[in-house]
Order: sequence, then structure tokens, then C-alpha cells
Amino acid sequence: MKVVAFNGSPRKEGNTYYALNTVGEELKSQGIDFEIVNVGGKNIRGCIACMRCMENQNERCVIDIDEVNAWIQKMKEADGIILGSPVFFGGMAGTMKSFLDRAFFVTRVQNQPMLRHKVAAAVATVRRSGEVGTFNALNHYIMTDELIIPTSNYWNAVFDMQPGEAAQDVEGIQTMRLLGKNMAWLLKVLAAGKGQVEPVAPEERQWTSFSRV
Ligand SMILES: Cc1cc2nc3c(=O)[nH]c(=O)nc-3n(C[C@H](O)[C@H](O)[C@H](O)COP(=O)(O)O)c2cc1C
Repeated sequence: MKVVAFNGSPRKEGNTYYALNTVGEELKSQGIDFEIVNVGGKNIRGCIACMRCMENQNERCVIDIDEVNAWIQKMKEADGIILGSPVFFGGMAGTMKSFLDRAFFVTRVQNQPMLRHKVAAAVATVRRSGEVGTFNALNHYIMTDELIIPTSNYWNAVFDMQPGEAAQDVEGIQTMRLLGKNMAWLLKVLAAGKGQVEPVAPEERQWTSFSRV
């Protein structure tokens, strides 16, 4: 089994990395492969709302100048996904949002939704305030594609400022450690249930807006 984590911080080995790595250590100790992909340090364009991913049905974004398409396939191949971001002005870091807008639009508009029933969690790191909004915003991607969310003993956030300070937030680190344990357990339960418990059949999506059907 494999979990891929996306780090939205431009600081490759800053606090978000530390928080994600804490979750990853728990996963690895239980025999689950773990990889952190750095998103925050890359040039990632935002979604241009061209809707070509919906038309093309080829699991790709037409903006083919960066690593978003490779990361989409990484998510497809993984059993679990973690979305991690530092809080920037009360929200997730901009590069992370550009990546997630494009990737999750692609994955969700394919005729066969790509990430359905994978396990996924969100993690935010923060100096002082804005962690809950950022955690919620990251969960918005996870919660539109029938992914399954493990939880911890609090909302998944770690308080810190300079790289390395995350280690001092004992409660936040415990939240990460427990998240790793619960994620590993959930992955194993789902694997054990394969062939034993009938999966929920997908429903064809009903696309409506409030003004028309
Ligand atoms: C542009 C920018 C905006 C930030 N905005 C906030 C904020 O709104 N609230 C907050 O508590 N911390 C804010 N911070 C601090 C970071 O969230 C905090 O230092 C975090 O630990 C960074 O994680 P990293 O080491 O993974 O980059 C901001 C930092 C930067 C660079």
C-alpha cells in the first residue's frame, strides 16, 4: 500500500514537511510506503476553466507545462492521499490551490471518477490563526469525490513559525501521529474488506445549478 502526500509549502523542509513526515513515520512503521511531493516550490498555473478535461476524458489537464498531470497519476496509483499546506493569509498557499483546482477538476469529471474510495486527509500548519479555514478548504477537494477521511483527536493543524518549530507543538504533533495511526488502520480495514464487502456502486452525477436543471 502507498500514501502520497503533497506539501504546499515553498519551504521544502519546513513545518508542513515536518507535520506530513510525522504522519508518514506512523504509516511507514506499519509497512505502508510514503512519499512527500513538494508542490509549493514549483511554478503551477491556475485552472483556466476551459473544461477540456471534461471533453477529452483522458485524465489530463491541457496545461501540460508543469507536473500536475504526473501528480494526478500519482494520486490515482496511491491508496491514500494527504494534502498539506501552510496557512497564507488565512488560506492555503497559492501554488497548492492552483494544483488542487486543476487536479481535482480532472479527477472528478472523468466518466470513471479517479479517486473514489481512496483514503485522504488534510493537514495545515500555521503560526497563529487561519488553520481551521485552511483545513476546511483542503477538505473541500477530498469531500467532492467520495474519498474516505480518517480523523485524529483534533482538527489536523500544527502551530509553528520558523522551520523546525513544529516539533515544539506537542499537541499538534500528537494529532499528526494519531492521524497516521488512524489512516493506516483505515487502509488496512478497507484492504481486508475487499472481496468480502460489496462496494457501493457509483451513481451517474447529476449536474445542476440552483437556477436550472
Ligand atoms: C505569505 C505568508 C502568509 C502567512 N499568513 C499567515 C496567516 O494568515 N496566519 C498565520 O498564522 N500564519 C501565517 N503565516 C505563517 C506560516 O503559516 C507559518 O510560518 C507556517 O509554519 C509555514 O509553514 P512552512 O514552514 O511549511 O512553510 C504566513 C506566512 C507567509 C510566508
